[in-house]
Order: sequence, then C-alpha cells, then structure tokens
Amino acid sequence: MDVFRLGLFLLITMGVSAEVQLQPLNAAVLRGSKARFNCSTTLTPSVMTWSVNGLLVVTIIEASGVLNITDRFSATNFTTPGNYKWEFIISNVQRNDAGEVACQVMGGERQMATLSVQERGSVEIVGGNQTKTEGDQTEFQCRAVGWFPEPSMSWSVNGVETSCNRSSVTQGSLFNSSCTLTVTAIKTSSVQCLVTVPALNTPESNTVFLTVNKNTKRDQTVLIAVTVAFSVAALLFLIIYGIVFLCRRRRKKSECL
Ligand SMILES: *[C@@H]1O[C@H](CO)[C@@H](O)[C@H](O)[C@H]1NC(C)=O
Ligand SMILES: *[C@@H]1O[C@H](CO)[C@@H](O)[C@H](O)[C@H]1NC(C)=O
Ligand SMILES: *[C@@H]1O[C@H](CO)[C@@H](O)[C@H](O)[C@H]1NC(C)=O
Ligand SMILES: *[C@@H]1O[C@H](CO)[C@@H](O)[C@H](O)[C@H]1NC(C)=O
Ligand SMILES: *[C@@H]1O[C@H](CO)[C@@H](O)[C@H](O)[C@H]1NC(C)=O
Ligand SMILES: *[C@@H]1O[C@H](CO)[C@@H](O)[C@H](O)[C@H]1NC(C)=O
Repeated sequence: MDVFRLGLFLLITMGVSAEVQLQPLNAAVLRGSKARFNCSTTLTPSVMTWSVNGLLVVTIIEASGVLNITDRFSATNFTTPGNYKWEFIISNVQRNDAGEVACQVMGGERQMATLSVQERGSVEIVGGNQTKTEGDQTEFQCRAVGWFPEPSMSWSVNGVETSCNRSSVTQGSLFNSSCTLTVTAIKTSSVQCLVTVPALNTPESNTVFLTVNKNTKRDQTVLIAVTVAFSVAALLFLIIYGIVFLCRRRRKKSECL
C-alpha cells in the first residue's frame, strides 16, 4: 500500500469527511420547468442520497442503481474515473419544491443548495394603441399579473429604456404589479413594457403604438400670427414712409413737426 492509498484508507476509516461538492448552490427556475444539481466526490461512496426540504426523494446505491419515490425525481450518472458524480433532476418543478435541496454521501458531510421557484405571469398595456395630437400628454399603464417574486418592470420607447414607478399587490403568493409611463406626444412611437424575474432568460413584453397627429389648429394659429405680424410691419412702414414723405414736401414750404 503506497502512502497515498494509506492516507485515503485512514481518512475513510477514521471517519473524516470525504470532499463532497454540490452545484449550483443557488438555482432559480420557473414552475413547471426542470431543476438540476450535481453532486460529486473523489471517492466512490456506497450510497448517495438526495432530499428536498428534508424529504428523501432519490437514493443511489452503487451496487444496484437509482431508487426514486416518483418519476418527478431522477438522477443521471456522470461518473468518470476519479470523479464520482451524479446529476439530480427535478422535473415539472412545483412551488413547494422551493427551499432546500441536499446531497449526502456515505461518510461525507451533507451539502445543501437553495432552490427558488418562480412564476411567469402576463403583461398587458391597458388600453392598447393610442392616437394623440402633437404636444398632448399621454399615459400608458402596464399591468403584470401573476408573477413571483415581485417582477422588475421597465419601459422601452422607440428602443430607449425608461425607468418605471412600479407598484404591486399580492394575491396569495403571486404579485400583480403595474407601472405608469407619462410621455408627451411628439412623434409616432412604439411603446414597449418589459417584465422579468431572475429565472427568465428574456423578459416578457407587450408593445403598443402611439400615433401622433399634427396639431392643425396650432399650425393655423401660427400662420395667422405670422400673417398679422407681416401686415402690421408693412402698415408701419407705409405710415413712416408717408410721414417722412409729407415732411420733406412740407419742409420745402415751412418746417415739419
Ligand atoms: C453536471 O455535470 C455534467 C457533466 O460534467 C454537466 O454536463 C451538467 O451540465 C452538469 N449539471 C449542472 C446542473 O451543473
Ligand atoms: C456510473 O457510471 C460509472 C462509469 O461509467 C460506472 O462505473 C458505474 O457503475 C455507474 N453506476 C451506476 C449505479 O450505474
Ligand atoms: C424513477 O425515475 C425514472 C426516470 O425518470 C422513471 O422512469 C421511474 O418511473 C421512476 N420511478 C418511480 C418509482 O416513479
Ligand atoms: C396596434 O397597432 C399595431 C400596428 O399598427 C397593430 O399591429 C396592432 O394589432 C394594434 N393593437 C391593437 C391592440 O389594436
Ligand atoms: C412614483 O410614485 C410615487 C408615489 O405614487 C410618487 O410620489 C413619485 O413621485 C413617483 N416617482 C416618479 C419618478 O414618477
Ligand atoms: C390581479 O389581477 C387579476 C387579473 O386582472 C385580478 O383578477 C386579481 O383580482 C388581481 N389581484 C389583486 C390582489 O389585485
């Protein structure tokens, strides 16, 4: 027996923990999807167990194979020489799977990870498309219904992100959140509301359009103002010119005022 083997032998017989690794230590997944964890150790244990919130769900016996309590819990062998490794899979994840996932091997310390189960809800922009007159103030309200945890919300107007003043109410463990955007109608725009939770790779979104009509009344007012200004200027010019002309003619006879 060489020194290395002797060392291992002593480790095992003296009851010192084998090195066990659980990965990831934190996982956030959507309800209904799959959650996966790997547990590995350098030594081949006779038994590896997996539990969810203290309930034993999978037992892997090296000599005989995998025992699971239901088909929602399963395990895949990823063992390579010198690395004993199993992937534990929870299929169709339920809200009450959230909490503690633990892996334990015979002769090793219990390793724990945290599973967070999230919900994807819906996104709606109340009232849909809007048509406004140039210069008007307009409001868009985005409603996110049935999310967990409280979602992040933002607006994107013509692709430019705008923050959002979110407010939420809970119904059971789900959040209804809403946020309002106030814009001045300047040009026809796309208004998008984005909602997300950490378990989502890309946010859920909804897009509506703001159609802006030219303010014809204001254009007419401007036109009238310009016309009036020009007329007044022309009139003033004529009057001044007239006075000067008259004065010159009078000066020849007597004096002007
Ligand atoms: C577990 O390990 C295997 C093999 O190394 C890898 O393919 C798989 O993605 C890992 N799973 C997780 C959840 O990290
Ligand atoms: C897991 O895979 C390893 C390597 O392929 C193999 O030696 C071992 O017997 C497998 N274990 C079980 C329980 O199937
Ligand atoms: C254990 O998991 C396997 C694979 O997912 C499945 O086919 C089997 O039915 C499960 N066993 C029990 C008792 O549910
Ligand atoms: C809003 O306008 C767009 C493009 O003009 C159209 O495709 C969409 O169906 C409209 N949405 C609603 C709710 O009317
Ligand atoms: C957000 O909402 C709060 C309360 O409704 C209000 O006091 C605050 O001014 C708002 N902030 C912005 C940036 O709209
Ligand atoms: C959340 O929104 C849904 C759909 O609009 C509604 O039925 C429900 O009452 C709302 N919950 C709360 C607590 O406001």
